[in-house]
Amino acid sequence: MNARAFPHRHLLGIEPLSAEDVVQVLDLSETFVGISERTIKKVPTLRGRTVINLFLEPSTRTRTSFEIAAKRLSADAINISGQASSTVKGETLLDTVRNLQAMHPDVIVIRHAASGAAHLVAQHVECAVINAGDGTHEHPSQALLDAATIRKHKGRIDGLEIAICGDIDHSRVARSNLYCLTRLGARVRLCAPRTMLPVGIDRMLGDAQDRVRTCFRIEEAIEGADVVMMLRIQTERLGAIGLFPNTREYSRHFGLSPRNIGGAKADAIVMHPGPINRGVELDPALADGPRSVILDQVSYGVAVRMALLYLLGAAGGGTVE
Ligand code: NCD
Repeated sequence: MNARAFPHRHLLGIEPLSAEDVVQVLDLSETFVGISERTIKKVPTLRGRTVINLFLEPSTRTRTSFEIAAKRLSADAINISGQASSTVKGETLLDTVRNLQAMHPDVIVIRHAASGAAHLVAQHVECAVINAGDGTHEHPSQALLDAATIRKHKGRIDGLEIAICGDIDHSRVARSNLYCLTRLGARVRLCAPRTMLPVGIDRMLGDAQDRVRTCFRIEEAIEGADVVMMLRIQTERLGAIGLFPNTREYSRHFGLSPRNIGGAKADAIVMHPGPINRGVELDPALADGPRSVILDQVSYGVAVRMALLYLLGAAGGGTVE
């Protein structure tokens, strides 16, 4: 089993992780993949531990994935869903987590519409906190499962050319992936309309900023790419401001389709964190085509989340049987 102690109490983002930390999660997740392929998909590793999934923003994949991961490790998984209104963001979130803490969970997995929500919660509880997406800030487990999928299909991440295209400005997936992939040695091209690509986003990376390039044409972003990751327009975060004329035009200029995929490497893979808006950012022919690894992302997501729950929720150790 993995001998190195994971040097973090919480997973609040990729930003504080070293390349070694990321590789530790990816390596460990590979040992968990097989459990999901068995007839009896359960090991006693986290028996007696409690995982609370507190999802205050819509989610299909991430919430199910954390719940399945917890259950496959024999932890007790409790799911709380609900929409947080703007009036209950501050005090009520803290009140909620203080009450949850009083029931002694081992891990709280939180998704919230406010950037920084997971950090706030971590300051007020004794258990481990996993950020399952906080506003436009980070979505670390998504970036880790994306890295696991890329490593599986390409055999490495170091030296790859990876295009991330879509609503970069509002995407926590883009931010977490930018940290994760550059830390593992990839070069990232970010592509969006000018209104959706924050000026100076490369500065987020400090010394590694030469590993990121921004493009305003999708053809330029995908030229010679090994991986093309498409992102949804985060309509729920746009407010009343129109950042592009209409979806047809967006799709024509920034969508991935059989018309422009030819510019990527012949063996380039197509990724998407879901939910896909078919025909907007991604043509159905590519979403369902031979280059698509989108459902593999979902499968590796369970193994990656099992690894995270093990590393953060098994204080005192567990065994994989
Ligand atoms: C992403 C999210 O919630 O940030 N989805 C996910 O977790 N798989 C991306 C999105 O909603 O577009």
